[in-house]
Amino acid sequence: MTDNPTGKELAQSPGADNGELAATTTEQAVRPGAWPKADVAHHLRRTDTDPRAQARAVRQVSIMFILSVVMVILFIVAFIAIPRDEVITLPFVGAIGALNAAMGLTFGLAIFLIGAGAVHWAKKLMSDVEVVQERHPMKTDAEDTAVAADIYEVGKESSGFAKYPMIRRTMLAAMALVPIPFIVSLRDLWLTPPGVTTPSEELLTTLWRPGMRLVTDITYQPVKADEIPVGGLVNVVPADLPLVEEEDQNLNARAKAAAIVVRMTPEEIQSQQGEGWDYQGILAFSKICTHVGCPISLYQQRTHELLCPCHQSTFNLADSANVVFGPAARRMPQLPITVDDEGYLVAVSDFKEPVGPSFWELKESYS
Ligand code: FES
Repeated sequence: MTDNPTGKELAQSPGADNGELAATTTEQAVRPGAWPKADVAHHLRRTDTDPRAQARAVRQVSIMFILSVVMVILFIVAFIAIPRDEVITLPFVGAIGALNAAMGLTFGLAIFLIGAGAVHWAKKLMSDVEVVQERHPMKTDAEDTAVAADIYEVGKESSGFAKYPMIRRTMLAAMALVPIPFIVSLRDLWLTPPGVTTPSEELLTTLWRPGMRLVTDITYQPVKADEIPVGGLVNVVPADLPLVEEEDQNLNARAKAAAIVVRMTPEEIQSQQGEGWDYQGILAFSKICTHVGCPISLYQQRTHELLCPCHQSTFNLADSANVVFGPAARRMPQLPITVDDEGYLVAVSDFKEPVGPSFWELKESYS
């Protein structure tokens, strides 16, 4: 229904029943629920005066709502039809999961089209007559104003906000600058120039390298292969981790290189991530969960399952550490190992795939 301050009868609304008019007269608008009209010149829209424009706007709004329905159907189709591991490459964004992209696009468009349809409906077809909304006096009475002012003064004096200008100024400076880290950290969303190590590239390598001994976590003792019993688990790190941590003064290297070693009989191993990556049934895996990065060392030796305590992702270490339960999207990376001349466990190479939680630049072959 459209108000018409001219008082003239206007065109019939498309789809309206038996002569119901698209616009009301000035008299009809003066109803208990209606605000009084403002005494200003009102400009009619084309949809107020042209039945064809009005019908076109009705169609446009309806099409947007129908397209929203179509997007929801496409969302469901995409969810069923697109494999979870399918990856597409988009300009500026790079490789992303096709399923996530399709679901985000269709659902985003479904919401957008409802909003756009509602806005178009409001602008073209709903009443746009200028009205007056009377306001009640908003001013607080003098007594309450004085009390509020006094509360402010008492607070100001007791906090010393006015008394210590240095504190006041430094606090204001600190508060003004504190959002900057959030802005600066957005840098990681940008593509990095060639030759500069990106955050994702840093996640692709760890301290492990050929011949590096596996040493026990915390005590840093080299691990002898024949000292690990079948069913046993040892937390290990690279032998040069203490030196690196001392040099870096942080735990970043540990967060990537931490690993576990388990032993089972060679016959129990169903599959590995690379041929001969075990040593006589001793297998080494990253300790960092591929879901969101909790360290894992809960091991059920009878089932060979590694259980993450954070969200219960479970990996079968006898079968390439594949995910058998939980939210993790990919297996735990395996570290190829052997022994040196003295029988101590050493790495054959670094991990062949990134450790830790998946990240959006992860190559298709790792996901
Ligand atoms: S961090 Fe391991 S399941 Fe979530």
